[in-house]
Amino acid sequence: MNLTINKIKQKKFKDPIVCLTAYTTPVAKIVDQFSDIVLVGDSLGMVMYGFKSTRDVTLEMMIAHGKAVKKGISKSILVVDMPYKTYESDPSVAYKNAYRLMKETGCDAVKLEGGKKIIKCVQFLIKKKIPVMGHIGLLPQTATKYSVKGRNNSSIRNILNDAIILEKAGCFSIIVECVTKSLADTINKKISIPTIGIGASNTCDGQVLVIDDLLGITEKVPKFVKKYDNLNKKILNAVKKFSIDVKLKRFPKISNLYT
Ligand code: KIV
Repeated sequence: MNLTINKIKQKKFKDPIVCLTAYTTPVAKIVDQFSDIVLVGDSLGMVMYGFKSTRDVTLEMMIAHGKAVKKGISKSILVVDMPYKTYESDPSVAYKNAYRLMKETGCDAVKLEGGKKIIKCVQFLIKKKIPVMGHIGLLPQTATKYSVKGRNNSSIRNILNDAIILEKAGCFSIIVECVTKSLADTINKKISIPTIGIGASNTCDGQVLVIDDLLGITEKVPKFVKKYDNLNKKILNAVKKFSIDVKLKRFPKISNLYT
């Protein structure tokens, strides 16, 4: 069954939403089988390009990886992140870039970071029929350090307000990143669109993780990540074995050759 934005909205309080990032076709093919939403996150800056933050990610990178991931998807919703400095300044710039992302990748929606500060851009995109996923709490594109949000009254008030105005603007769901459990629980009860948590709460309507974190490829991960495997070690062992085989002339064998 192919998912739609409306079907995702209907999952609120009913059916937990599975969301994972993917950046390449083969990984998208796997993730698609077990997810409702596949996200081409701008975390690809760190995961794929070795950047220190998401701020160096360009629209062209998001388009290239969005296209690659789209090829691997048959039933999930595809969401692509709008990178830093491609939407915040002006609604018409946001629309031009979001339109390009949608048209060139074939994605179903775009994701923008922030609430009140970018609300005019969000409203404009939705008015122009571009589905938008919100992203509140810790905002990696503008954060100066990675810290838990919602620890004081003004932070709680601002993040809750961001959630409410994003819902009002017409977002179909919101990522809630790295906030206290009690704030995430409040947001989840207060709004009628699905919340998707990452370091937020088990009461969120869905959960998202960066695929390389879950697989144990990323070395240092925050506390909210559960590593389901240790692929880093497995890749290292495989590469080491190949290297030894080549050095000892054990590879290739005659069976690997075209005799
Ligand atoms: O860029 C990303 O991968 C994200 C997720 C961590 C939510 O925004």
